[in-house]
This record gives sequence, C-alpha cells and structure tokens, in this order.
Amino acid sequence: MTAAGLPMEIRSEGLPTRVRIHEVGARDGLQNERTVVPTEVKAEFIHRLAAAGLPTVEATSFVHPKWVPQLADAEQLFPLLGDLDPQRLPVLVPNERGLDRALALGARRIAVFGSATESFAKANLNRTVDEALAMFAPVITRAKDAGVEVRGYLSMCFGDPWEGPVPVAQTVRVCRALLDLGCDELSLGDTIGVATPGHVQTLLAALNEAGVPTSRIGVHFHDTYGQALANTFAALQHGITTIDASAGGLGGCPYAKSATGNLATEDLVWMLHGLGIETGVDLDRLTATSVWMAEALGRPSPSRTLRALSHKE
Ligand code: HMG
Ligand code: MG
Repeated sequence: MTAAGLPMEIRSEGLPTRVRIHEVGARDGLQNERTVVPTEVKAEFIHRLAAAGLPTVEATSFVHPKWVPQLADAEQLFPLLGDLDPQRLPVLVPNERGLDRALALGARRIAVFGSATESFAKANLNRTVDEALAMFAPVITRAKDAGVEVRGYLSMCFGDPWEGPVPVAQTVRVCRALLDLGCDELSLGDTIGVATPGHVQTLLAALNEAGVPTSRIGVHFHDTYGQALANTFAALQHGITTIDASAGGLGGCPYAKSATGNLATEDLVWMLHGLGIETGVDLDRLTATSVWMAEALGRPSPSRTLRALSHKE
C-alpha cells in the first residue's frame, strides 16, 4: 500500500484503461436486507455514492410492493433524488405497470430482468422464460420510444439453485432474445455466485460468436463462493468495461435464497486502481459511505477492502 492508502499501480497488459462501475447497492443490496431502511437514509446513501464518483447508481425497483417490500417506497424515494441527473439513476421495471410508475417520476434509464432458467423465472416473475420476455417486449418498445435507455439483466447465467449448472447455449439464447427486443446493454447475472473464470470466458466468447459485441455486455457477480473478483478479472481480460458491484458487498436476491452479496465495490475499486484502470471513484469517500451504511444496518460489511481500510489506523 502507498502512503495515501491506495494500492500500488501496476498495469497488466491487454486490459481496458477505463471501467464504468454500475453501483447496485441501493437496489440489489437493500432489497435483500431484513431491515427496511428508511427512505431518507436510502436517499442519503445514493447521494453519497454519487458524490464518491460512481457514474451509475441503480436507485430502486418499480416492482410489486408485496414481492419486494424493502423497495416499496420507490415513489417517495425517487423525488428525493431530483438534484441528480436521472441518467445516473437506473431503476428496475418488470412490466408496463412498473414502466408507467417509473416514467411518471422522470426515470430516464430502466432495466428489465429476465432469467436463463425456468425455475427462477417462475420464482422471480411468476412467468416462464418466454412469458417474461413477452412481458418485457412492450416495456422496452415504449421506453425506447420515450428515449429511455434499457438494460437487460439476465439472472442465473451460470448456475441455478434448483436446476444446477446452466448450459452456455441456454444463456446465450435468452441474451440474444433480450437484445433482439431492443435492450441497449446486457448484464450477465451470476445470481448465486457459482461461476468460475473459465465459465465466464466461455460464455463471453459464445456471446461474441452469437453476434453480441463485448461493448454491450456488463457483468454482475455475486460473491457467494468468493469467486466474484476472479470472475471480474476474467471478464476484464475479455475486454468487458461495465462491471456491477455493490457498496460494502450488500446484496442478494430475495427469490434465490442461496444468493449472497454482490461483488463489493471497494474490493473492485482496489483491484482496478491497482491495475491502473480508471473508474472516477474516490475510494476514501466510498469507504466512508459503506461504513456509515453498515452502521445504519447494524451489521458489519463483508468487504475485505472496506474492513482493511476502515481499521488501518
Ligand atoms: P404477478 O403476481 O404475476 O402480477 O407478479 P400480475 O401481473 O398478475 O398483477 C397482479 C397485481 O399486481 C395487479 O394488481 C397489478 O396491477 C399489480 P391488482 O389488479 O390485482 O390490484 N402489479 C404491480 N403493482 C405495482 N408495480 C408493478 C406491478 N405489476 C403488477 N410493477 C410481477 C408479477 C412481475 C409484478 C412480480 O413477480 C414482481 O414484482 N416481481 C419482482 C421480483 C423482484 O423484484 N426480484 C428482485 C429483482 S431481480 C434480481 O435481484 C436479480 C438481479 O440482481 C441480477 C442477478 O443477480 O441475477 C437483477
Ligand atoms: Mg443481483
């Protein structure tokens, strides 16, 4: 470590020079907390993440409030973020009802969220994989017509708690379908954190072969088996420049019980800055934010970097 508390910077050949971190702590993180965080605390969390330099801070979800009670305050929260550019604040939208709610509040970036497996499609969306795609079709069309950017999440890209390992071709099919419906970018979800680096590289190569350019792919790793950072490095080697992470490693998914937190943003930033890859993120401000959030939640963060930096005195 250098005197400034930053990793020593040494580049590794062939990696991107800049990465866009897609921060999901306020959505993926908080949706899975037992405690329902007060709306004002969520708003402060998002403001602090934006002030720490995170270019994209996923804010909330316009889903059925009974399905995800932790995010039932989306209507109250979004107006509290009015001073931030809505382009920086994507929101999850599963259907036209969710889109109407999001557009009414001025959302300018949305994400639909499909599944590579039937079991998770049923558990998360009460639909088959293809029924979910049919539900997204008008959402994507209407969003695009309104000039709103659309991300397509795909869950269970590598493994599924009910179905086991997911064949690469199965994931590629649904990725292609999401792009064909008009999604601007994909985010490949390792919802239960079972992927390993070779699997990541194989899927990315298969997507390229199916005509999906690397520039339209993001990666979304949960860290259940401690593989998230290794998988991220594999993705970087492939040229991926959009990486999802959650501050302090908050997260999971209420409809996949074995999912734990996302890759911690602090761990990601430490590695990227060590590799000389620009992120625009101020690690000190980010760390202070996650320490504050962990206090608000009353439990320590699982992020190793966060723990190391917050105990270094
Ligand atoms: P459903 O029960 O099939 O809904 O749920 P429906 O279409 O039959 O409608 C039933 C009622 O819900 C109707 O009301 C609708 O108006 C209402 P009624 O006429 O009976 O009074 N309704 C809504 N109300 C508010 N907002 C809405 C909405 N939609 C319908 N948007 C539904 C289908 C999709 C709504 C439900 O399954 C749902 O909300 N699911 C969301 C689950 C979720 O948010 N999961 C977590 C996010 S995904 C994730 O975390 C993975 C990710 O991180 C990537 C990874 O890690 O893999 C992204
Ligand atoms: Mg997730």
